[in-house]
Amino acid sequence: RDSKVLQNNLEENSFINYKENLKNLHIVKRRLGRPLTYAEKILYGHLNDPENQEIVRGVSYLKLLPDRVACQDATAQMAILQFMSAGLPQVAKPVTVHCDHLIQAQIEGGKDLKRAIKLNKEVFDFLKSSTAKYNMGFWKPGAGIIHQIVLENYAYPGALMIGTDSHTPNAGGLGQLAIGVGGADAVDVMTGLPWEVKAPKILGVKLTGKMNGWTSAKDIILKLAGITTVKGGTGKIVEYFGEGIDTFSATGMGTVCNMGAEIGATTSVFPFNKSMVEYLKATRRSKVADFAKLYQHDLLCADPRCEYDEVVEINLSKLEPYVNGPFTPDLATPISKLKDIATKNNWPLDIRVGLIGSCTNSSYEDLTRSASIVKDAAEHGLKSKITFTVTPGSEQVRATIKRDGLLKTFKKFGGIILANACGPCIGQWDRQDIKKGEKNTIVTSYNRNFTSRNDGNPQTHAFVASPEIVTAFAIAGDLRFNPITDRLKDKNGDEFLLKAPFGTGLPSKGYDPGKNTYTPPPKVRSVVSVKINPTSDRLQLLKPFPPWDGKDAKNMPILIKAVGKTTTDHISMAGPWLKYRGHLENISNNYMIGATNIENGKANCVRNVLTGKYKGVPETARDYKAEGIKWVVIGDENFGEGSSREHAALEPRYLGGFAIITKSFARIHETNLKKQGLLPLTFKNPKDYDRIDPFDRIDIVQLQELAPNKEVKMIVHPSSGNDSWTCPLLHTMNKEQIEWFQCGSSLNKIKRDKEK
Ligand code: F3S
Repeated sequence: RDSKVLQNNLEENSFINYKENLKNLHIVKRRLGRPLTYAEKILYGHLNDPENQEIVRGVSYLKLLPDRVACQDATAQMAILQFMSAGLPQVAKPVTVHCDHLIQAQIEGGKDLKRAIKLNKEVFDFLKSSTAKYNMGFWKPGAGIIHQIVLENYAYPGALMIGTDSHTPNAGGLGQLAIGVGGADAVDVMTGLPWEVKAPKILGVKLTGKMNGWTSAKDIILKLAGITTVKGGTGKIVEYFGEGIDTFSATGMGTVCNMGAEIGATTSVFPFNKSMVEYLKATRRSKVADFAKLYQHDLLCADPRCEYDEVVEINLSKLEPYVNGPFTPDLATPISKLKDIATKNNWPLDIRVGLIGSCTNSSYEDLTRSASIVKDAAEHGLKSKITFTVTPGSEQVRATIKRDGLLKTFKKFGGIILANACGPCIGQWDRQDIKKGEKNTIVTSYNRNFTSRNDGNPQTHAFVASPEIVTAFAIAGDLRFNPITDRLKDKNGDEFLLKAPFGTGLPSKGYDPGKNTYTPPPKVRSVVSVKINPTSDRLQLLKPFPPWDGKDAKNMPILIKAVGKTTTDHISMAGPWLKYRGHLENISNNYMIGATNIENGKANCVRNVLTGKYKGVPETARDYKAEGIKWVVIGDENFGEGSSREHAALEPRYLGGFAIITKSFARIHETNLKKQGLLPLTFKNPKDYDRIDPFDRIDIVQLQELAPNKEVKMIVHPSSGNDSWTCPLLHTMNKEQIEWFQCGSSLNKIKRDKEK
């Protein structure tokens, strides 16, 4: 148990830390004096301060030291730019970057990949050069989807990883606790800071029995989504247990964990088991598997009699295939009821496109099971009735299914093989077969099916199912088809029933790694220069924000007094703005354009107090900035709820904001504001929100005395000419966070500490 074992075959200095994790765990167990679940063991084994950390599930904030970080190409841009501005020579923990989100599906994999590489060249060049410079691993376009690459190469039982993508929990299929976060959290770990998360509650899912026939692992999570709804997992880790967990493959467990994101779970995980050993061995990681076995009875399992906050039970023997949707992944319909429900709801019954693969469902097992249905249909002279696409999750999967003849089988069926990338799963789909606004049905083996997600058409009814069910639908072309009971007509008009799918969990000839798509960081990194074209409109180096000038801020205008829900989407919109994620100046043109101005009930229309003219919010902020005038925003309840998007905090800082004053904050956004050196403040008396007029002027004073738990004094100068009044404000900054404000940002503080 004392040996040094590498986490993976690609990095020379990343070792598995079981010994340290176990040491921490013993401390926590002594303190808590109760049995722990598997997820708790991983979390508490990674605590920064196991002796003193308060641990109450659902209450405390845990400071953790993750083993590694994974970033996808869209979110990696700002994370790396921020990391660079800290001035550190290399990342503090192993980090990998994966080019998968920027590849649009148009014709077929090969051509689409070439086109995407040309279109996104500057982003890919930046990611390649910056990862080389700062000692990160780079997976180039075509390598595959982040979560599949992580599963194949990096995930291992008992590890804690954060990833800048919602479906990071996919790695729970290998017993890893993998959590999706925003870029700012990734930067914390990259710079060596502990990462903070509210101690999750644990939702136990007990699996009994064994799946059979048309049912597959996907149906476990489709059913669970129906039980819990999309909010049921919020603030919780889903931990699977029961004898059913030993009856299916690690990649199947990956599928289940992947889609835990759809019920809002922090992450999902299966405890270490035999299927994980088999998968680790098949992916050339026998040493990792053998090492994990040495810790399986204390670290890598749940304690007997551990307590879950809630328990849901699913009997796999009785589980039938589910089809979830449209428009939400928790609208779960068992296949036996779909015919009636679809007809009753007037869902379009003709299926236009079937899409299999993606990070959720592109394992060798998934594709062999789908291929078995395709072959059965071919023996009866049938092909796909509709457009049918296959997205391999990685180059390794693609090369292996090519070698084993599956690609040919799918092509003969009429299938289009897309690039090893996200493609239609993230809306990167140049769909041509229908007009925008046309009502239609598609069926996918992906994970999300929110309105417009796949093709930007709000009238597309997207249903999520297992790849096997999608394939059967492609043969029938009709949403009412139930392959378990309904007969098809063969080429001679004779009726037949499709055979239940069968597949191979792992390729008998081993995996074919395919083309080499990985670039490790070079040994000598000092000569590498990071490529950013100074005229680029997509990428821009971040300049460190100036430190606080030590003075009180006086006579500040209110940029906007926002009313009602102000989510991170209202603060920094997505959609077309995603293109500018690596360019703070350009993306700042979306600042608060979705928020409602209390003065006129309009979005993106505020009065400049200097000129009296109405303009957009970002333009007005820029006008103030040009005049050297600091400004504030007044906000309503739960300001900044939604995602952890760090741009929502970077933008106001870039545009010259000083403080964001609200009735209350969503916690992640509040922390992000602190990290960027802004003051997130709340009204001590929430009614004071109503007393403030959008044209009042604001002083924030006595800032020299800013201290934890101490009120902040705001003086309001009414635009009416009435007497000024004092408005007490609260803040949640600790000592270190106050230093972030003083230094200008958390990254400035890191830089200053290093220089000291
Ligand atoms: Fe996410 Fe789908 Fe890609 S879930 S990682 S967009 S394949």
